[in-house]
Amino acid sequence: MLERHEDYVLSKVTFASMKVTVVGAGAVGASCAEYIAIKNFASEVCLIDIKEGFAEGKAMDLMQCASLNGFDTKIVGATNDYTKTANSDVAVITSGIPRKPGMTREELIGINAGIVKSVSSSLLEHSPNAIIIVVSNPMDTMTYLVHKNTDLPKNRIIGMGGALDSARFKYRIAEALTCPSSDVDGMVIGGHSDKGMVPLIAKATRNSVNVSEFLSAERMDQIVNDTKVGGATLTGLLGTSAWYAPGAAVSEIVKAIALDSHKMIPCSALLDGEYGIEGLSIGVPCIIGKNGIERIVEVSLSESEKNKLKESAAGVAKTNALLD
Ligand code: LAC
Repeated sequence: MLERHEDYVLSKVTFASMKVTVVGAGAVGASCAEYIAIKNFASEVCLIDIKEGFAEGKAMDLMQCASLNGFDTKIVGATNDYTKTANSDVAVITSGIPRKPGMTREELIGINAGIVKSVSSSLLEHSPNAIIIVVSNPMDTMTYLVHKNTDLPKNRIIGMGGALDSARFKYRIAEALTCPSSDVDGMVIGGHSDKGMVPLIAKATRNSVNVSEFLSAERMDQIVNDTKVGGATLTGLLGTSAWYAPGAAVSEIVKAIALDSHKMIPCSALLDGEYGIEGLSIGVPCIIGKNGIERIVEVSLSESEKNKLKESAAGVAKTNALLD
C-alpha cells in the first residue's frame, strides 16, 4: 500500500489505493464510513459488526449513495468475519457501548476494554501493517490499551479525540463571532473528557487575529466550558453519543494518512516525555502522514495551560489504572 504515493496524479488530484476497516457499524462507524467514502480518497471501506447482517445492510445502504454523492470508494460489510478486513491500511475501532445521558466516558471502561482488546488483536492478525485509530471511550485509555495489548510502534496508534474536540471548539467560536467556521482556527489538547479537555482559547484566531480582540473574557470562558461538555450536551439531547462530528473527525485523520498530507491534527498519542508527560496517551498536536503520527509538536504553553494539561494527564492516568 505504501506505494500509493506513486499512484497516478490526474488534474492535481492524487488517487490513493487505500483500504480502511471500520469496526462497529453503529452510528459512529457508519458515519466514519460515509465521510471517508464521500471524501473519495480510499479505494475500499470494510465495515464490520457483531450483529448479524447489520454491517452488510449499512454497507449496501451507503453504496446506494455512490451515484448520488459521486464517490468511487467501495464499501463492503461483514458480520464478525475479520478475513474480510485483511490487508487494511487503516483500521478504525468504534466498537463498544456509547454513553447514555448523565454517564461519563470513563464509566464505559469495564465493557469497552474487553471489546477493544479483542478487536485490536483480530484486526492485527489480518492486517499486521495497519495504522489503528481508536474512537471507543474512554478514548485516551482505550488508545493506551491498544499500545499495551500490541507491540505496534507508537506512531501507528492514534486516538481521535482532539480532532473532534477541536472541531467542536471551532464551532463554538464561530457561533460566538457569528462568522463561518472556515474563518476560525483553534485547538483542544488534553484528555477527551469533560474535565480533561484543554481548549487553547488564548491561541484561537479568526483569520490570524486573536479571538480575544473580538470577545470578552466571560464569553471566552463560556466557549471553553461549552466545548468541554460538547459531547455530554449532545448525549443529553440525543439520548446517546454523537456520530456526525466523530465520523467526520476520523475521516480527516484517515485522509491525512491516505494523502500523506502532514496535516497537524490534535490526536491522542503515546507520550514519552513530551510536555513533561510519559507513559500515557493524551491529546497533543500531531503531524499526520502515511506513517500515522509522523511527529508530535510541542507548542509553547502558558503556565496555566501547562497546569491544566498536567491535571488532565493525572485524570487519564487514574482511568488507565483501572485497566490493571
Ligand atoms: C463524543 C464521543 C465520540 O465526544 O466521545 O461525542
